[in-house]
Amino acid sequence: MNRTIEPIECLRGEIALPGDKSISHRVVFVGSISAGKTSGKNFLEAEDSMRSVSAFRDMGIDIEVKSKNVTVISSGPNALKKPAGDLYLGNSGTTMRILPGILAGQDFEATLTGDESLSKRPMDRVIEPLEKMGVDIKSKNRNGFPPLAVKGGKVSPIRYATKVASAQVKSCILFAGLYAKGITAVTEPFASRDHTERMLKFCGAKISKKGLTVSVEGGRRLCGKEFFIPGDISSAAFFIAGACILEGSNLTIRDVGLNPTRLGFLNALLKMGADIKIDKKTEAAEPYGDIRVRYAPLKATVIEERDLPLLIDEVPILSVVASQASGKTVIKGVAELKVKETDRVSSILTNLGRMGADIKSEKNNIVVNGPKRRLRKARLESCGDHRTAMSATIAALASAGDCVIENADCVNISFPEFFELLSCLKK
Ligand code: S3P
Repeated sequence: MNRTIEPIECLRGEIALPGDKSISHRVVFVGSISAGKTSGKNFLEAEDSMRSVSAFRDMGIDIEVKSKNVTVISSGPNALKKPAGDLYLGNSGTTMRILPGILAGQDFEATLTGDESLSKRPMDRVIEPLEKMGVDIKSKNRNGFPPLAVKGGKVSPIRYATKVASAQVKSCILFAGLYAKGITAVTEPFASRDHTERMLKFCGAKISKKGLTVSVEGGRRLCGKEFFIPGDISSAAFFIAGACILEGSNLTIRDVGLNPTRLGFLNALLKMGADIKIDKKTEAAEPYGDIRVRYAPLKATVIEERDLPLLIDEVPILSVVASQASGKTVIKGVAELKVKETDRVSSILTNLGRMGADIKSEKNNIVVNGPKRRLRKARLESCGDHRTAMSATIAALASAGDCVIENADCVNISFPEFFELLSCLKK
């Protein structure tokens, strides 16, 4: 469905958000291989996280999702049973890339399939390390894309250096390492989000970290635990961005995840001069707190490649903010953006370009020059990508006239309440 977005004056109010997508997936992964009951309060009931739920249900795990809570009951690491058919994972790259790590330790073969977008996303990055660990894993069409056929069994430990900084790849290897005898170590070129390490440790895994290397000892028994899933900072980013660019805004978002490996966007905004305060910070397996944002004029910034994994999902919305900040913003090392749910470098350039922003890609960087005039009204594409749709919506709020967002329903992949919550804040 297309949506027409009218420009508004500002965003004001106080809200809480659905649970973090990465953590919601992991409560299901970790719970399915931990003995006893695992629960997650404020679970994200969106298309992506529900793909993980249905995949594990299809492998015999007892999972209940009710009133924003998830409960997973398992007998331990080998509780999974061969599914009756293929496991369809929709658009969920996180499930497609992490699940093979758990299948590595199971004594059966499973086939993982996805939608059109997921079927074009590179899987060599998990196929290569898992093969090195002795797992029989294949891209069924031999093109490095899904469907994947995974036959688990005996897993050997490895020391592996990933080519890209990716939490999905790191997590896949760590989960497989749980089934290997000895120590498995993963080294990344730059640090990526560390939810898997934190959550596995909380459930009893022996995890250690030294610089950019994370190690796990295989064979330890995990026990089910209770998790509070903080609001998704990547979803909060859209409202925070709106409040930063719309004069007169004043917004509080309660209980948002504040894991340091997810704070790249907030830190970039602070460098740009944003008026953001963190309040009521609570330390937990996953820290969280309230974020208050008030409008303040912004100046340009430079994002270095090493910091990109800390805001990888926020590059589209950061580009929108940069289009409203005075001066030249450079976001470096954006190659990974081209293999997300859509080519996000292209979708960002298309949409902001249509609105008259001064934006281009130069080598491996996105370059945005701050505003000479107000963004103009335009027809904007979602490309079936949730974060492109939400970024385009926030840009539209700041534009000079009504904009149409094509196929805006794709927000359901990570944030089904997006438009409803936005309408509570519009002033
Ligand atoms: C995720 C990791 C990131 C991110 C994705 C979720 C995760 O992907 O873009 O939305 O939950 O591990 P990469 O690992 O490919 O960077």
